[in-house]
Amino acid sequence: MLGPLGRFLKFPFFVRLLLVLLVLQLTFYFSTRKYALKTRMKSVAQTQTHILNKTMVIPALASEGSWQTVVPENSQHKYLVFSAFLDVRNGRSIRIIAVTKTSTRKKGLVKPWCKLWYETPESGLNSKLVEGELKIIQEHWQLPYSPYYVTCPLSENESIPLMVSLLNDPAEEPLNMLKVISNYPEGKKWDANELEPDVKKMAVCVKPLHYDYNKELEFLEFIELHRIMGADHFILYNHTVGPQVNCLLKKYQQQGIVTVLPWELPIQSQKDIRTEGIFASLNDCLFRTMYKFSHVIFLDFDEFIIPTNHYNYRELFRYLHEKYNNKKTSWFSFKNAFFYRQWPDDPAVQEFEDPLEKQLLALRKTTRMVKLHAHGTRSKLIVRPDLVDMVGNHIIWAYYNHKVFRKMDVAPEDAILHHYRICEFGGNDCVKHPSTVDRSAYRYRDALLKAVKTRHEDHFDECQLSKIEGSKYPS
Ligand SMILES: *[C@@H]1O[C@H](CO)[C@@H](O)[C@H](O)[C@H]1NC(C)=O
Ligand SMILES: *[C@@H]1O[C@H](CO)[C@@H](O)[C@H](O)[C@H]1NC(C)=O
Ligand SMILES: *[C@@H]1O[C@H](CO)[C@@H](O)[C@H](O)[C@H]1NC(C)=O
Repeated sequence: MLGPLGRFLKFPFFVRLLLVLLVLQLTFYFSTRKYALKTRMKSVAQTQTHILNKTMVIPALASEGSWQTVVPENSQHKYLVFSAFLDVRNGRSIRIIAVTKTSTRKKGLVKPWCKLWYETPESGLNSKLVEGELKIIQEHWQLPYSPYYVTCPLSENESIPLMVSLLNDPAEEPLNMLKVISNYPEGKKWDANELEPDVKKMAVCVKPLHYDYNKELEFLEFIELHRIMGADHFILYNHTVGPQVNCLLKKYQQQGIVTVLPWELPIQSQKDIRTEGIFASLNDCLFRTMYKFSHVIFLDFDEFIIPTNHYNYRELFRYLHEKYNNKKTSWFSFKNAFFYRQWPDDPAVQEFEDPLEKQLLALRKTTRMVKLHAHGTRSKLIVRPDLVDMVGNHIIWAYYNHKVFRKMDVAPEDAILHHYRICEFGGNDCVKHPSTVDRSAYRYRDALLKAVKTRHEDHFDECQLSKIEGSKYPS
């Protein structure tokens, strides 16, 4: 039996020499690197006063929809930031939504530095530099770029910074400035056990609008049906949007129903990053709604989580709580049911008098696959954002104290995800799957028609909406 030394000595002399040299070289490299970083750190004053001219800087601050760079334009890789949020769970910290080169190994990443900016009474800004931590958001699909969280720790009694800049090199001047979004009441202690399980306020998060999204009626139906089921607010990301939906978005925005954030992510979708950086948007939405909404739904425009026996989410969640005591449930998964668009319309539609009603997706498409997908596959989620830490498309990657707080796989008897789409593998063969008729959306028939029709008529002229075949307006 040979020990490690014995094995080493068995190598020819020159191999041994090479190995020793390599180890020495590496040790030297890392020690100087560390030293260089330390001395650079020393040259950066920990707290700098009046470094920035406030009137100059404040207009540039963002977290409301611009991607800013961390590194100079000519850098080898892009490194971008979108928003920053106060997180009060597990100690306080600032969470930044960032995108940079995919690296699943911790060692491949350069340490980020957070410059925290505080307002001083003398009209200037103080800054403080702290070391941050980069954490990849799980679903990168092996593409070159991924969304990340950067966590910047705050010490216990520190006041909340006004803004934060992310730096790659602590000695450099910041190239970005993010407003710290702070939804949590200052001074209040956060306690997970005090959270109520009831639906108080509900938000819907949708991935970035793209391909000049312009399905006017489907968009109206999505918003209005969700409002009927209990959604209070929608957070959308504007990558590209068509003229009619753009106009409708502005109408909803004016009424405070919808928040639209610009989403000009300068990284090529699908080639370099997963669909328009969807996971950065989903996690931005998680933190944007945290401490403000009790429940948040993450969906696409062709999806609706519809209760099987209840009229709205408030009733559904009250029932689920009574049945299972959901005080310690952090997220709810709903099974996917394909309602393929190739299946014929429900025959009832022929009898509808109103031409607009004949167009409503949830009333037309009532044939669905008998077999539902398993939880975790194409399922969609409703979360309690205060208890969740990292959102994926179909599952939650991290949530608060998972030993105590749990997820819940909602039974199809209680609710399922209605997913209206064409065959997912192309062609028309999907319609051969065994199917059943599910008319649970019919309970919203009158309310839905009324809501969509009112919007459609009200904005018809101004938004230059398409005429509904057979409709009386414009008269
Ligand atoms: C700050 O910047 C503004 C706008 O650029 C300028 O008008 C003002 O004089 C500057 N103030 C100081 C103290 O430099
Ligand atoms: C924070 O403030 C409290 C009350 O003022 C004090 O008791 C505590 O020691 C402070 N903690 C730190 C880390 O400064
Ligand atoms: C979406 O982005 C486009 C392009 O920047 C812009 O012209 C449009 O006004 C935006 N729409 C909304 C609703 O924010």
